[in-house]
Amino acid sequence: MKTIVTGSYAESSRILADMFECVMRTVEEPLLGLSTGSTPLGMYQCLTEDYSRGLIDFSHVHTINLDEYVGLPRSHSQSFGYYMDKHLFSKVNLLPENTLLIDGVGEPEAQCRRYNEFLSQSPMDILVLGIGNNGHIGFNEPDDAFCASTHVVELADDTICANARFFERIEDVPRHAITMGMAGITQAREVVLIATGMAKAKAIGALLADDKIDPRLPCSILKVCQNATILIDKDLADYIQ
Ligand code: PGA
Repeated sequence: MKTIVTGSYAESSRILADMFECVMRTVEEPLLGLSTGSTPLGMYQCLTEDYSRGLIDFSHVHTINLDEYVGLPRSHSQSFGYYMDKHLFSKVNLLPENTLLIDGVGEPEAQCRRYNEFLSQSPMDILVLGIGNNGHIGFNEPDDAFCASTHVVELADDTICANARFFERIEDVPRHAITMGMAGITQAREVVLIATGMAKAKAIGALLADDKIDPRLPCSILKVCQNATILIDKDLADYIQ
């Protein structure tokens, strides 16, 4: 696992987009692993701008998203499907049949099975991760053990509080989600975790502090990955030291 400290969030987003674009240019039918939340927005902006300038093409690209709230249909403004439509899918020439998402209102076990079968055949070429204030990746919350496969998870109180900003009332935040597990995440050929903001300092500080892998700090599993990068900006790095 390597760490890159950049000058700013904008620079982190640019570097991340360049890493994705490199995969898109060099792999015949790339599978991109995508995440949501506020942190990857800068990367999606770079990708959509580069697409409008004719620099990249998505017609041969496949995508898979990490997670989704249970109970939210794609038409709900806070579902991750809606987020993807808004920030990427509607702006580039990705074929709808090449985008794999969890259906928040589908039967959960069937959704997990579909994801696990897909991932066992097709590891991702590159995966972007954000990180929760509590160190979660996807919706793999701190727990006594890691969960390997795609599964239904009860969201941690920390996560519900952090995500309440996107909903009218905290009671509206779904209590459950479906998330890709650690097998899918760690099998990606390249994993990039991007973090910005002081709220992430505790988790990133703990991640970089030692060589331990601890299910109470889910992001620590990235230490087993062949090719994982932690992308943080100077403000966050200064705060950790
Ligand atoms: P954020 O969420 O990018 O909105 O901070 C990250 C996450 O919870 O994984």
